[in-house]
Amino acid sequence: MTANHSNIDINESVPVQEPQRQRWFMAKCRELVKMREQELGRKLTFHDQTFGCQMNFKDSEKLNGILEEIGYVPTDNEDADFVYYNTCTVRENANIRVYGRLGTLKTYKKKNPDMIIAMCGCMMQEEEEVQKVKDVYTFVDIVFGTHNIFKLAELLYEALSSKRRVFDVWEKTDMIIEDLPSDRKFDFKAGVNIMFGCNNFCSYCIVPYVRGRERSRRPEDIVAEVEKLAQEGVVEIMLLGQNVNSYGKNLDEPVSFAKLLQMVEKVDGIERIRFMTSHPKDLSDELIEVMAASKKICRHLHLPVQSGSSRILNLMNRKYTKEQYLELVGKLRAAMPDLAITTDIIVGFPGETEEDFQETLDIVRKAEYDSAFTFIYSKRSGTPAAKMENQVPEDVAHERFDRLLKVVNEVAREKNARLQGRTELVLAEAIDEKDPSMITGRLSNNNVVHFTADSSVIGKIVPVVLEEAKGFYYLGRLSNG
Ligand code: SAH
Ligand code: SF4
Ligand code: F3S
Repeated sequence: MTANHSNIDINESVPVQEPQRQRWFMAKCRELVKMREQELGRKLTFHDQTFGCQMNFKDSEKLNGILEEIGYVPTDNEDADFVYYNTCTVRENANIRVYGRLGTLKTYKKKNPDMIIAMCGCMMQEEEEVQKVKDVYTFVDIVFGTHNIFKLAELLYEALSSKRRVFDVWEKTDMIIEDLPSDRKFDFKAGVNIMFGCNNFCSYCIVPYVRGRERSRRPEDIVAEVEKLAQEGVVEIMLLGQNVNSYGKNLDEPVSFAKLLQMVEKVDGIERIRFMTSHPKDLSDELIEVMAASKKICRHLHLPVQSGSSRILNLMNRKYTKEQYLELVGKLRAAMPDLAITTDIIVGFPGETEEDFQETLDIVRKAEYDSAFTFIYSKRSGTPAAKMENQVPEDVAHERFDRLLKVVNEVAREKNARLQGRTELVLAEAIDEKDPSMITGRLSNNNVVHFTADSSVIGKIVPVVLEEAKGFYYLGRLSNG
């Protein structure tokens, strides 16, 4: 996406208002980058490593948009002039991976001392992690958090012009800055933030602490962004939020998520609408009705259950019981028989007994998930669950995890065979990684299909005959009529 930067006068004083202020810093950085280009006789490059969820990937698209506006060109190579790590801290192994990789950057920086290294994202919202970067990873130049990604140009300008390390992490924000550049990864599908933060404080989860309180974007801003995306050729959008079902509750003029979906559905050119993530406690009958009546909302719902034991769900602060969850699944299936339901499950939450775990296996069978992301509970400091007694021993959690995976796979395999022989509409997304004569695409229910076709179909929604179910994907061919 190219932005119009012609009306920025960099000789004027720094604007106070956003986004004008950031536009001004982008122009200032552009000058510095141009000078450096001339010295080196080449373009300056940037590279990102993004960890974590869709929200983080969306943030990286925004950061990349700013960097491109400044004049950096993207590269797959980590040996770049500007490298940033957008981090995740939802489970401990996410942190370990980041520090593991960071070491290699140090060697690149030795070769290219002008290299700028930045760290941002959820891990940087934790004080002890920032301290660690300050003290141990002294080759990191810029650190910022989740609340001020829009400020990248300003922080970069400070780093480039002062040659000092820049740390800027905000504890919280109520700002939502619209109209900054963004570099989309795909031409034909795009994520759209509808809200930021989370108010649920599930007792195991660190997200509310690192992403702050729930803030919804105004529906008119969301619709305007979707219209623009449609004009640019996007056919599928994914509405993003930690709990989309509570969208709009704290706006000056409250709007329900179901109403927002209806507004977005009216945008011409958008053919598919997805959303992530739904919290079961807030999923309304209104939403089910709107989904069932819609031609554009995909037949897929990600509905994290976390556990099948009502006792554990209570300790997790999830605010529903096993029975309520299954009742909801029943309502959804009655309204949309072809709906795929996927979930997230945690095993080894503090105090989880074999009995509790059996309830989890039972709910997997009863809810008939199309797929599930399964996690071993990870203790996150600062969360209520970290202080709970009866932390489950690691070997017990691992053993339960393996048993759960087996059941999840059995159930999913059966579910994923049910469309065999049918012709379904598929969004063709990419050339198949393993067989370049084939295309990989997705059905409305999010199942993957590999089918014979040439690359001209990419980005289009085409009918595909699902010839063979292969467990977790289909093999197919383009339908000729
Ligand atoms: N907002 C989303 C989830 C975001 S985090 C929701 O509520 O559905 C994605 C998943 O990570 C969660 O659904 C949960 O299953 C898992 N998760 C979060 N914290 C965790 C922890 N401390 N240990 C293990 N898994 C965790
Ligand atoms: Fe974490 Fe719960 Fe919020 Fe999801 S809803 S982000 S699991 S606190
Ligand atoms: Fe991770 Fe932050 Fe997402 S902790 S899961 S990147 S909101």
